[in-house]
Amino acid sequence: MTQTTAPSTTTGAGPTAAPVGVTLLNLKVKILRFDPERDKKAHWVTYNVEAQPGDRVVDVINEIKWYQEPGLTFRRSCLHGICGSDAMLINGRNRLACKTLVRDVAKDGGTISVEPIRGLKVEKDLLVDMEPFFDAYRAIMPYFINESPAPAAERIQSEAEADLMAHSSNCILCACCTTSCPIFWVNGSYLGPAAIVQAHRFIFDSRDEATQQRLNIMNQNTGVWRCRTAYNCTEACPRDIPITQLIEEVKRAVMFQQA
Ligand code: SF4
Ligand code: SF4
Ligand code: FES
Repeated sequence: MTQTTAPSTTTGAGPTAAPVGVTLLNLKVKILRFDPERDKKAHWVTYNVEAQPGDRVVDVINEIKWYQEPGLTFRRSCLHGICGSDAMLINGRNRLACKTLVRDVAKDGGTISVEPIRGLKVEKDLLVDMEPFFDAYRAIMPYFINESPAPAAERIQSEAEADLMAHSSNCILCACCTTSCPIFWVNGSYLGPAAIVQAHRFIFDSRDEATQQRLNIMNQNTGVWRCRTAYNCTEACPRDIPITQLIEEVKRAVMFQQA
């Protein structure tokens, strides 16, 4: 790692080489760093990198880790928008780093800012404690319940029945929605939009037999009524799930059950 004159800015010669006809972008990547063993509070460090316009932000962060700052800590796994592990705030917006192209968030000479998602305790750098998020997930009983004798073949659904859970079954549990929700920031006991989307997936599954129990969980004071329909969650979802609409559908199901 080569330190530039400014102590909070580092630069490194990564392996980036532009293919013929591709112009590399010179970027500053500003990362909110925090090491619990050294730091009292988080601070920004800026790294100089070169990237191809079609690189993803996760490629740039990987390059910083591999060639400039080995201690940089963050999660990523599949690198293809499937596992949901690299949610982070990129230029102030919750996104998956592996689904965000450099050219969509910065121009040549520009700056990309990267921070941990909000509302969860930061363990180190971009790594947050996901346990409260998964506690909420576990609370909605995220498994299929059907005590009836199994049929000889599959439990069949009509196309219309499958459509009811088409959006919610796309969720990859990345936490972009829940950690963009202002209600979750101020009240961690709120189950949050991701858990409600997961509940929706089973409530609207025609084969599931625990609808009543699930609606009771949604009707508790940690459930759907905390939502103030602010739409942050829908804007944050990398899977384009219409989260606020699904929350409204769950609210209506709770009210219908009570009527
Ligand atoms: S719509 Fe509801 S769940 Fe989504 S961000 Fe707003 S308050 Fe949170
Ligand atoms: S609903 Fe969307 S933003 Fe929320 S956890 Fe699922 S995939 Fe991520
Ligand atoms: S690394 Fe798996 S979703 Fe980005």
